Amino acid sequence: MVTCVNVRAPSSTANLGPGFDVFGLALDAFYDKITLSKTNKSITTNRPWHGIRILTTDNIPKNPQQNTAGLVIKAMKQKFKIKSGIEIKIKKDVPAGFGMGSSAASAAAAALAFNKLFNLKLDNKTLIKYAGIGEKASAGTIHYDNVAASLLGGFVVVKTKPFDVIRLEPPKDLVLCLAIPQLKVPKKKTMISRSVIPKTVKLSDLTVNLSNAANIVTGFLTKDSELIGRSIQDVIVEPARKHLIPGFSKVKNNALNAGALGVTISGAGPSVIAFCKKSQNLKKIGKSMEKGFNSVKVNCDIIICKPSTGPKIRT
Ligand code: HSE
Repeated sequence: MVTCVNVRAPSSTANLGPGFDVFGLALDAFYDKITLSKTNKSITTNRPWHGIRILTTDNIPKNPQQNTAGLVIKAMKQKFKIKSGIEIKIKKDVPAGFGMGSSAASAAAAALAFNKLFNLKLDNKTLIKYAGIGEKASAGTIHYDNVAASLLGGFVVVKTKPFDVIRLEPPKDLVLCLAIPQLKVPKKKTMISRSVIPKTVKLSDLTVNLSNAANIVTGFLTKDSELIGRSIQDVIVEPARKHLIPGFSKVKNNALNAGALGVTISGAGPSVIAFCKKSQNLKKIGKSMEKGFNSVKVNCDIIICKPSTGPKIRT
């Protein structure tokens, strides 16, 4: 009988330009770790959060009703009528609030760990739905782009009505260059950056985004990093959000001039992500992005990484 499960789930980038709330790519940059154990304490109340204990040294809520992973465990515990107490150890590695799917990584790891610990054998779509419950707590609305990427690895396409998720293997030569600005991010950053997006869009803008999105999917299907890179173009969400990121246009133009194939906001920002090929001068691209942030007196960290193949589960 399994009494303890360890899961590490990757960071991710959402949207990839035109695929707002639809596209996600798992990033081999940071991993959140969750250790889930059954405790001897058996629970007699019917309050599903009773008996859930969160242990962490990170600066995140310890109350299961406010914690991303805690909410996922609570929902699953209730649904599957699990009576035993549960201890959740959390080690966060994905920087929170920087557009790299931090809450999604913890939520995905929690859903996978619970599934394994209680041998539920749930399918991926069901697990993504449970992980989405945790993501809602931090973003305010449910969107599955980051959780799906974190849970499945690779590139994902999410459809909500009816719910469906497709996973595609990224090209081997695709490399990402992330510029993570050292900014103080507001607490409800995702809510703020969603509030500036237009409620309606021009049909001509929709056509541009749709054609780019279709080309990105084609690029992943045909393993064509150049097609992916040159289709990372968004005329709807990026123009509405870029004022929230100091120096964004400079960072983007510098990276493109240094050879990046495509550049956009990573998820809801403020990190900026450049899509590149392994054979390129990645250091030069990273340096150019750093200079872009430095030009507005913002320091930044540069991370060069590949797509992640997905989470790792250990019992
Ligand atoms: N698709 C989401 C957004 C990702 O851009 O708001 C952030 O959680």
